[in-house]
Amino acid sequence: MNNIPVIAIDGPAASGKGTVAKGLAKALGFHYLESGALYRLVAFVAQRESIDPNDAPALAQVASALQIRFIEDQIFLSGQEVAEQLRVESIGNLASQIAAHPALRRALLERQRAFRAAPGLSCDGRDMGTVVFPDAALKVFYTARVEVRAERRLKQLKQKGLDANLADLSRDLAERDARDAARATAPLAAAADALILDASDLRVDQALDVLMRWARERQIGVTTTAPARGN
Ligand code: DC
Repeated sequence: MNNIPVIAIDGPAASGKGTVAKGLAKALGFHYLESGALYRLVAFVAQRESIDPNDAPALAQVASALQIRFIEDQIFLSGQEVAEQLRVESIGNLASQIAAHPALRRALLERQRAFRAAPGLSCDGRDMGTVVFPDAALKVFYTARVEVRAERRLKQLKQKGLDANLADLSRDLAERDARDAARATAPLAAAADALILDASDLRVDQALDVLMRWARERQIGVTTTAPARGN
């Protein structure tokens, strides 16, 4: 039995779940895990080393051997900062393909659970509430309409000076969600006890208000003893 509270936020690609999961971590002083980054890291190494996306044992081996450190928004792979390189669409799509292998998912399972540390963890992904942290104190399925998600992703890419168009992005996101939801192992799905939030028409601060209210209702991040007061 683990008493350290977990907030598990799952949902489709580019729904903004990472932004709110990180916002919750900041507001509550919790640790943060972006589980998609682990799948993207394996995809990144697989691409660099020309590993066949169907070679599950080789991919699981990569996952077990990853030397990773997360420091704020930076992601270090064997000491090299790779965060920006992980964000490109091709790596997201490859991550989605290889994430269907049960052996790879198993190799990442304990690594994800190791992020659970006091005073709590806020995390986002596809199977945080269903598989990785089934005893999470708050489970949220955080979604938005595909056209809203595509617009959001287009804006992010343009800000980075990258070329993209809305039709291709919408199609890629829809394909990725369909693949993530259709796989046999740990598919993208709301946990039976998850609360659903469709953030299509909400600003980030409004979505965060809803999530903070749900966390408060569950006494998450609320200390039981009153803090000491100075005079
Ligand atoms: O969250 P993201 O878009 O960075 O994730 C990239 C891909 O990784 C996603 O399409 C499927 C896979 N993934 C997964 O299978 N399980 C997770 N918990 C997180 C990501």
